Amino acid sequence: MASNGATNGSGAFSINGRAYPVTDHTFDVVIVGAGGAGLRATVGCSQAGLRTACVTKVFPTRSHTVAAQGGVAASLANMGPDNWKWHMYDTVKGSDWLGDQDAIEYLCRNAPAAVYELEHWGVPFSRTTEGKIYQRPFGGMTTDYGKGPPAQRTCAAADRTGHAILHTLYGQALRNSTEFFIEYFAIDLIMDSEGRCRGVVCIKMDDGTIHRFRSQLTILATGGYGRAYFSATSAHTCTGDGNAMVLRAGLPLQDMEFVQFHPTGIYGAGCLITEGARGEGGYLTNSNGERFMERYAPSVKDLAPRDMVSRAMTMEIREGRGVGKSADHIFLHLDHLDPKILHERLPGISESAKIFAGVDVTKEPIPVLPTVHYNMGGIQTNYHGEVLTKKNGDPDVVVPGLMAIGEAACVSVHGANRLGSNSLIDLVVFGRAAGLRAAELVKAGEKQPELPADSADMSLGRLDKNRYASGGTPTAELRLNMQKVMQANCAVYRTGETLAEGSKLIHEVWKGRDDIGVTDRSLIWNSDLIETLEFDNLIVQAVVTMDGANNRTESRGAHAREDYSERDDVNWMKHTLATIDDANKAVTIDYRPVHSYTMSNEVSYIEPKARVY
Ligand code: FUM
Repeated sequence: MASNGATNGSGAFSINGRAYPVTDHTFDVVIVGAGGAGLRATVGCSQAGLRTACVTKVFPTRSHTVAAQGGVAASLANMGPDNWKWHMYDTVKGSDWLGDQDAIEYLCRNAPAAVYELEHWGVPFSRTTEGKIYQRPFGGMTTDYGKGPPAQRTCAAADRTGHAILHTLYGQALRNSTEFFIEYFAIDLIMDSEGRCRGVVCIKMDDGTIHRFRSQLTILATGGYGRAYFSATSAHTCTGDGNAMVLRAGLPLQDMEFVQFHPTGIYGAGCLITEGARGEGGYLTNSNGERFMERYAPSVKDLAPRDMVSRAMTMEIREGRGVGKSADHIFLHLDHLDPKILHERLPGISESAKIFAGVDVTKEPIPVLPTVHYNMGGIQTNYHGEVLTKKNGDPDVVVPGLMAIGEAACVSVHGANRLGSNSLIDLVVFGRAAGLRAAELVKAGEKQPELPADSADMSLGRLDKNRYASGGTPTAELRLNMQKVMQANCAVYRTGETLAEGSKLIHEVWKGRDDIGVTDRSLIWNSDLIETLEFDNLIVQAVVTMDGANNRTESRGAHAREDYSERDDVNWMKHTLATIDDANKAVTIDYRPVHSYTMSNEVSYIEPKARVY
């Protein structure tokens, strides 16, 4: 049900002499974000009898999950032999051994049940002739622990799988009586003096009213921060708001230097062309018409993991074998495939190619370029979704009252490089896990203590500061500077030189934030103000991404350094933990060991080895 927002009382707060009336709400659980992870957790919490609110800055079915195309990974074995242990092996190898193996076991073991649950809830999966869920090959997914041919593991609803999942989950959430607070922008968490999260403060964007949500548990499902870059497949809403709230709460973000470039963004527009296109038989060529992936990944070729394909494409372009007038992109061919298959299995990208590249995929190749797509890093959690921090040397201390799931979280199942279609399964497996944990931790309807007197100060102070910001630099100018620095200095390939320069430049943008100017002082549909709050969120994530990359002197997964071209397990098989001091514009880097153990005795630790395909 959509809430009218007046739950239980109100008060007035004064910031810089200006009054901000606040409406109070009390729930057992508040979930911020209504993408795949947020909605799955919402369903779980509601089904557990918890009074659950879902707060979202966009209408739920507009969340970025809607854009996920190729599918959701689970070892159903509908199209050939498969099992979750092979999926686990591939995910560990894909992560370049930075993933936590207990969490990866949890993901892969629970994936088939999570997909069948989606099927039973109504996701319209494509079907085999026998009526089973259709599965296609995706990069890095293999059989027999990498020794066999590619696995057909990615369950697909044509090339609109995220759309199908998101709409189904929203229907389930409505069926389970969740209260939705739609177009509410979360400003900051409410943290008490004991370090417990007590809720979140939001602005309702259509009328400018302020809402304080008190909860026993707050679950961040706020997605990634692709928009820190100039060219991304991510929606403009992907500003990592939860990640930034966590940084401002003094908690660390983990492994932020690992940013995934999807090999096939449409050249110029950046829109996604699913990896499912190569799963269905598509291939890449350079200006010589050569299928160059045969040289880089002789056994799996175009179905190598994304980090490898993106690097290979970049190399081809650098070495003068790019296509087009400026020799600066690559061709993706689908023109050899049966038009009937294209129509049935890849209708969405056929349309995108027409609209954004003017290409008829049945006749011509699509011009493509590696484009920012996913953040492996995020809020450090365990596989129950509980947020962790480091205290007195213990890196895995639970932050009470706070969880994170989906792309916002770093569990870490993707490590240094995520395999395609492991994101949608991450959303539903860990969204479900969070609901299960919430049911254990939270007693429905339990009386909650009064919020601290200063509970809204941080949020309202931030809101008021940005609302009345009267500096000389428009938000759009600073945002563009940030995006260009990230694009140029923290790209597919990195060097000490580009990263040191990038660190200097991105810190300048961060400092430039103090000179920001907002022209609209109203609170109602003030897009200048909301974009400024989003930029404020993006810039701190950009800074920790750049500084984390500058600090990590090895190559691993998506972090490819030309000056340190090898993986260095002796010194660097560890997670980065980054915190910020916003007042002094400083970043601190610390570490946490990778979990070198599994969740059960049914599988053993997968020993690191060279990552070849
Ligand atoms: O290529 C794709 O369809 C994207 C899938 C993913 O990022 O998992």
